[in-house]
Amino acid sequence: MIPNRLFIRNRANLAAQLPPKSIVVFTANEPMPRNGDEFYPFRQQSDFFYLTGINEENAFLLIAPDYPDESLREVLFIEPYDEVKATWQGEMLDAKQASEISGVKTVKGSDAFYNVLNDIAFSGYGDTIFLNSYEYPKYECAVETIQQRFGKKIKELYPMHQYGRTAPILNALRMIKSNDEITITQQACNITSKAFRRCLETVKPSMFEYEVQAEIEYIFKQNNATGHAYAPIIAGGKNACCLHYSKNQSQLHDGDLLLFDIGCEYKNYSSDLSRTIPVNGKFTERQKQCYNAVLRVMKEITKLYRPGGCINEINETTHRLMEQEMIQLGLFTEEDVKQQDPNKPLERKYLMHGMSHHIGLDVHDSIDKFKPFEPGMILTCEPGIYIREEGIGIRIENDLLITQGEPINLFEGLPIEIEEIEAAMQR
Ligand code: GLY
Ligand code: MN
Ligand code: MN
Repeated sequence: MIPNRLFIRNRANLAAQLPPKSIVVFTANEPMPRNGDEFYPFRQQSDFFYLTGINEENAFLLIAPDYPDESLREVLFIEPYDEVKATWQGEMLDAKQASEISGVKTVKGSDAFYNVLNDIAFSGYGDTIFLNSYEYPKYECAVETIQQRFGKKIKELYPMHQYGRTAPILNALRMIKSNDEITITQQACNITSKAFRRCLETVKPSMFEYEVQAEIEYIFKQNNATGHAYAPIIAGGKNACCLHYSKNQSQLHDGDLLLFDIGCEYKNYSSDLSRTIPVNGKFTERQKQCYNAVLRVMKEITKLYRPGGCINEINETTHRLMEQEMIQLGLFTEEDVKQQDPNKPLERKYLMHGMSHHIGLDVHDSIDKFKPFEPGMILTCEPGIYIREEGIGIRIENDLLITQGEPINLFEGLPIEIEEIEAAMQR
């Protein structure tokens, strides 16, 4: 169990940033329908988890720091006991357990939520209501989430109140990991490392990508990971040039590379690893050249993961360094670069993604490109090269913890050098 001091601290940090007479209301996620009477596995909304540690549906959290009755300043609402549900789906969380998990002292049934909210909203101590929304620049989704419906309902109930957004506050808080979060993320990375090591021992020509995925999932499950933090990419040969390849259906060929982009989720926290290995255990000369080009750049940019650095600097430096590497690899010449359309740099043909993002409860926790790094942030470092015409796709990715000095690699010791990978694949 995660110590509830984490959630107590998170709520206190949020409350400390609210203007006077605020109320914050959160709803838990709902199960996502699949078909028939089936649902996708439940995953809690990350902010709700960050503040409560509760992995249940039909729950609410209310925080009203200035409300005179201290017992109602923090209230967690959970689904009331339902005998039929308990029979079909297993024992339900009770108030004592919910309080132990979250550290919230007052736990009520979720059927009481709107009455309690009403009392506080019209008390004179809850004039501004903060609502939670998922704010992510690239996020587009046709499905209206329970958070959006909840927000609309609250605004209908209290049209004359003032409103605020929790997202800017929580995004900033979630970027800096506490020691408990760092410990869990390291555990997630350790499980992912184990899965990759198993693949180093088992991958061979003629295997299918899904068989490799099965090796990974065996280790994830064996170590009580909750699953994948994102759709795993197991991409042989040219499949690796498709950035979000996740079919994982092809057969692996002797002489090809195999790109892994995998990460387990453990206690709701993500890990995010990429490695590229030769299917037959030996890199060809050309594959070595390309691999070492990416690895050299990775080592250079890792030095930039220090307080004051930022994702934008990492991206720009990587593109500049990779351009030189690509010239060395014969992909284009200095002369070509001089004549290139500045809006379409040649190197972008071979490297078209960002090099870093925060990880945490979400694998893309935040991608604020300009926020200066601070100790406690955990970010990926993931340069790559994708040469479609040669069937070569390489990405190498570590998760780095920012400290006052050098970053700490949460995949420390995992094979990354060509010699280390070849030695681990020898059998
Ligand atoms: N696996 C997703 C990413 O590397 O960003
Ligand atoms: Mn990744
Ligand atoms: Mn990543």
